[in-house]
Amino acid sequence: MKPRQILVTSALPYANGAIHLGHLVEYIQTDIWVRFQKLSGHECYYVCADDTHGTPIMLRAEKEGISPEALINRVHAEHSRDFKGFHVAFDNYYTTHSDETRHYSEEIYARLKKAGLIEVRTIEQYYDPVKEMFLPDRFIKGECPKCGAKDQYGDACESCGAAYAPTELVNPYSAVSGATPVLRESEHYFFRLSDARCQEFLRRYTQSAGPLGPVLQPEASNKMQEWLGAPGENKLTDWDISRDAPYFGFEIPGDEGKSTGKFFYVWLDAPIGYMGSFRNLCDRTGLDFDAFWGPASQAELYHFIGKDILYFHALFWPAELAHAGFRTPTKIFAHGFLTVDGAKMSKSRGTFITAESYLAQGLNPEWLRYYYAAKLNGSIEDIDLNLDDFVARVNSDLIGKYINIASRCAGFITKRFAGKLAEVKAEHMLAILGDGKLPDRVAQAFDDRDFSRALREIMAYADKANKFVNDQKPWELAKLAGREEELHQVCSLAINLFKSLTALLSPVLPSLAAEVEAFLGIARLTWADTRSILPAGHRINEYKHLMQRIEPKQIEALVLANRESLEPSAETPSQQRHAQHQQATEDKVQTSAQTSEPVISIDDFSKVDLRIVKIVAAAHVEGAEKLLKLTLALGEEPGAETRTVFAGIKSAYAPEALVGRLTIMVANLAPRKMKFGLSEGMVLAASDPDSPGLFLLSPDSGAVPGMRVK
Ligand code: MSP
Ligand code: ZN
Repeated sequence: MKPRQILVTSALPYANGAIHLGHLVEYIQTDIWVRFQKLSGHECYYVCADDTHGTPIMLRAEKEGISPEALINRVHAEHSRDFKGFHVAFDNYYTTHSDETRHYSEEIYARLKKAGLIEVRTIEQYYDPVKEMFLPDRFIKGECPKCGAKDQYGDACESCGAAYAPTELVNPYSAVSGATPVLRESEHYFFRLSDARCQEFLRRYTQSAGPLGPVLQPEASNKMQEWLGAPGENKLTDWDISRDAPYFGFEIPGDEGKSTGKFFYVWLDAPIGYMGSFRNLCDRTGLDFDAFWGPASQAELYHFIGKDILYFHALFWPAELAHAGFRTPTKIFAHGFLTVDGAKMSKSRGTFITAESYLAQGLNPEWLRYYYAAKLNGSIEDIDLNLDDFVARVNSDLIGKYINIASRCAGFITKRFAGKLAEVKAEHMLAILGDGKLPDRVAQAFDDRDFSRALREIMAYADKANKFVNDQKPWELAKLAGREEELHQVCSLAINLFKSLTALLSPVLPSLAAEVEAFLGIARLTWADTRSILPAGHRINEYKHLMQRIEPKQIEALVLANRESLEPSAETPSQQRHAQHQQATEDKVQTSAQTSEPVISIDDFSKVDLRIVKIVAAAHVEGAEKLLKLTLALGEEPGAETRTVFAGIKSAYAPEALVGRLTIMVANLAPRKMKFGLSEGMVLAASDPDSPGLFLLSPDSGAVPGMRVK
């Protein structure tokens, strides 16, 4: 297989807001795809940047009393931190406020101008006479011309959904100063999208299917038909790419170095930021820029975007590139929007959750990566983060199925076989799996961006591996004499299955995969390891718990933290941010990373008197649905102290099977009077709210009744 050359981007987040769980749908999706390509041995680069220009960023900086540069530098650090926290591994995370992006903006503009695709026209626009600036549509408010709703934006009504021009608003006012805007004339620069060349190109481009398939998903392609109109119809209008000062952006160059006093509209230089970021990477690493962006480039270029910005990426952007002598995108991958519990993210409900708060609460980023992957299927449909389902899904798939394989087998390898694996045969692996093609199907699903399909296949694999362990019962083999070899074989097979599963999951769970690599004492996993087998005698390290379960109360705390941070305050945004941050940090100390129970001291723990006991009698309790009555002896000798305990384990054990067994009891629990008698303690059992089963604890052989457990 010839390695492919692939350049991938995610949309550039605006530099005036925090990264939230909605954004992360996109960055996690892209990161998984890129990791899969790299793991498969392709030459793949993933670049992104902050989108730093425009009126909102200028005004936001002004409000905070800092320069736009100071604002975008701070936000760049925050965004970089958040992405790193979720293991989104860009090859370059840059900024559009850069020399490289300025260079390509000017170059593309100059080439479009030379091609006769730029036109200067005078237009009338709303102007704020107090603030002395032209107002973007979103900064003009007024009453909806259709339904009369108050305080609607200048482009569309949130009440009735009507779209209109800002000049149609009734009683308009400036959202910046409150002044009544006046109409003023100004010269603007337009990209002539209505030109026949653009029309023709776009029809061809959005309809075409190269060797790698169509540029657009079916839903996006349909949208495009709507925007382009029927053949012969010209529905595209010219695009205004200039803005008047004051504006934070790049000035549009005039002829012979003269000043135009106009700025490129942020959406002109934003996608060019993809090039700027890649150029910066090339200059730092010696990569060939033209091999990826030149007109004859053979490389693949993919843009991951949200469905809200399809227009910019599928119309303006390719039309600009094609007429300025650059290559066009191979494909545009649009995704839907995130809803939380079936509704739009909401600050008042606490479901507008920032990346920072999620991490500050001590939640594991790979839980979210897994959940999003389980939901993403490569379509434009919205995806829902159902918080209950999130907990159930992660606990049952990752902990209950995947981690469980290693946690039940690794200990025997360490304790009984000095950490060394037995020889494992490929045909034995295959016999358990029953299907050697699974890694290929998973690879295809990842490549198709149908991550939910990939995970369904992977979990079917985990089910088979678990069934194998359940059937072979290494914990029982371990107790039988002369079954050493079998125990060794079963556990070594299980460890190899676990390793293959880890390789399959590694695009989704990169950090966990790195921990597994350390545990297994192996080199960086690649896609070939979805099938490889560890050699006989390979030594693994002692198993340490790899992933915690999610506790529902952690999610409650997260929602609460995002709701609390909304308490109204008269502080500046920067003070609010600071307060939010403080809040998040304090919460973290209280909940302590990754564990859900409050921390206790060793003194607290030693107050619990745990004892080995022998079950000397067990009986049904008349009228009790769940209880067994146990008589527990605290010593071996005849006449040793006994306790009566009513235990809710009837669903799992027949009384006669328990007699003679050793278990562990809490011996100093205050006696509790029950309907059926006095219960003088408690026995310990393991269970999982998400899966059936109850498992009484037993001590290792050698322990005798009365021994203290510490
Ligand atoms: N700055 C522009 C993109 C310029 S690309 C040349 C922008 N920024 S954004 O911060 O608003 O959004 C960045 C990306 O995140 C977009 O692709 C957007 O669709 C995506 N999402 C933002 N909120 C989202 C959800 N609630 N759900 C899913 N994706 C969302 O647009
Ligand atoms: Zn309306």
